[in-house]
Amino acid sequence: MNRPTLAELVALDVSRRGALKGLFATTAWLAGCGGRAPVSPMSVETLTRPPSFGPVSHEADATLRVPEGYTAKVLIRWGDALLPGSNHFDPQQPTPEGQAAQFGTNNDFIAYMPLPLGSQNPNHGLLCVNHEYAFTPLMFPASMTDAKAKVDVELNAVGHSVVEIKREAGGWTVVPDSLYARRIKAVNTPMRVQGPAGGHHRLKTPEDPTGALVEGTFANCAGGTTPWGTVLIAEENFHKSFRGTGAGSAEAANHQRLEFKGKSRQQWAEHYPRFDVDQRPTEPNRYGWVVEYDPYDRESVPVKRTALGRFMHESATTVVSAGGRVVVYSGDDRRNEYLYRFVSDGRYDPKVRENNRDLLDSGTLSVAQCSDGGRLRWLPLVHGQGPLVAANGFNDQGDVVIEARRAADLVGATPMDRPEDVEVDPVTGRVYVMLTENKYRSTPNGANPRTGNKCGHVLELIPPMAGKAVDHAADEMKWAVLLLAGDPADPESGARYGKGAGSENWLSSPDNGAFDGLGQLWIGTDGAGKVYGKADGLFRCPVRGPQRGVPQRFVAAPMGAELTGPCFTPDSKTLFFAIQHPAEGSTYAAPSTRWPDFDPSRPPLSSVVVVTKDDGDFIGK
Ligand code: FEO
Ligand code: CA
Ligand code: CA
Repeated sequence: MNRPTLAELVALDVSRRGALKGLFATTAWLAGCGGRAPVSPMSVETLTRPPSFGPVSHEADATLRVPEGYTAKVLIRWGDALLPGSNHFDPQQPTPEGQAAQFGTNNDFIAYMPLPLGSQNPNHGLLCVNHEYAFTPLMFPASMTDAKAKVDVELNAVGHSVVEIKREAGGWTVVPDSLYARRIKAVNTPMRVQGPAGGHHRLKTPEDPTGALVEGTFANCAGGTTPWGTVLIAEENFHKSFRGTGAGSAEAANHQRLEFKGKSRQQWAEHYPRFDVDQRPTEPNRYGWVVEYDPYDRESVPVKRTALGRFMHESATTVVSAGGRVVVYSGDDRRNEYLYRFVSDGRYDPKVRENNRDLLDSGTLSVAQCSDGGRLRWLPLVHGQGPLVAANGFNDQGDVVIEARRAADLVGATPMDRPEDVEVDPVTGRVYVMLTENKYRSTPNGANPRTGNKCGHVLELIPPMAGKAVDHAADEMKWAVLLLAGDPADPESGARYGKGAGSENWLSSPDNGAFDGLGQLWIGTDGAGKVYGKADGLFRCPVRGPQRGVPQRFVAAPMGAELTGPCFTPDSKTLFFAIQHPAEGSTYAAPSTRWPDFDPSRPPLSSVVVVTKDDGDFIGK
């Protein structure tokens, strides 16, 4: 591939920066945007009765299943054409050039951003989709032996896609030749680094002496949207793509705390030194952030917002708190890691979009400490406060955000059971944290109450009120357990749900969440196959009313797949979700499923699925 030099990237960045500024300066922002649906007045009525849809069986098979009365259709799959110049995708011989213009692999987070900007249009919008990781053994046939070409396909297959979609009489389709369509990748996607670690000496590399310009993003798991119409993509398991540990360098302990084991999941370091930590000990410090970009401007430069801290970010869920400050919740998805919160210094401006552009660069990062009695304190991670001083290796706020995990250790954060997605109830402002599992937990605490927690749980945070508004910036909140996951028939699980759970109405391994416009929580799972040999899937789970804490299965994912990125249109009549890593655990030559095409010449393909109700009504009413 013809990859631009750093100097070319810098030049490109400068010209794009001008374009970005221009767009923000001239766009009058109308409050309200996609990704989070408005609440329908039907909420209360709906929550008082069981769902109208019949349960979908837990059993795992090769297919994807939804309830009777609903239609599920694949909207876009790995390799489908996205940008002009996208050549035909040949899964027997994918090419780096083709992949750079095609939809990526292993899709995760999805945001629906209505068109035009600022509208609530439920029939035309942008799907903004993360591509989490490349899994070489399931991507390439044995006949493809060019190792460098495989690496270049992978670097172009991860990151993020922007897909313009439209609902017409025949249903939802991808708009061809869209002016919005975009691929953000691990390569050739210059992005700036801002906030306390932007330009920090610990981010400087031979390729980037500024420490403020990175070539791309990868390990993009869940994410979020902002009230001003931008998308946040989280960098999660970035450590798995690096080779080496940086032993002997000044960063060795930092990398150890982030679980660098020396071995890489891919062969990227064989061809690009930036993925070799022993050659480039500061390169990993340029990942593990939350990236913000503007999906409405294809030329906009993504920005790594370092004020939100560096760890294995699963999600970045934004809410405007009482008084207008912007709060971002984010989980660090590893066993015994922490739940974080960022509160902006500045206030959200619903009228002038430009005024929100750099809100996420300045504010207070904090970490959750849960007492057994149901209280949660947010402990600030601020340089100079408590143990976060030079004597402990924190010379400035840049050091604090780069080593957010170690800072959180020192202030006394509560180790959690793999905090993944976080969602805010649009009706009550209560916050829901999906905790996937911690099967090795030996010491329980109130908010993580099970030893050997193999099935995970969902925690509810209750912020105080400030007048009539919810104070997400408060120093203290309350917490409660919404549900303890697991099969109620499994005596070892210790499962606990609302009244009416059992039989098919239970889940394991909560991962992603979303609220619909009726105020119901939906939970996607990742791990039910490993725990129970059951299908992962999507569950409706009301958090209020008589159905509180009773999950009911709505989707069964195909064999080997997790279900990610649930997302509703603003009218709640369309549901999108992603099927990630179908056939995981099997081989390219003999996959456990060839979903979605079941064509013997094509491998299983991760895809975005769209679901509508046949009578046109709300999903899951
Ligand atoms: Fe990428 Fe924590 O799942
Ligand atoms: Ca996840
Ligand atoms: Ca997961």
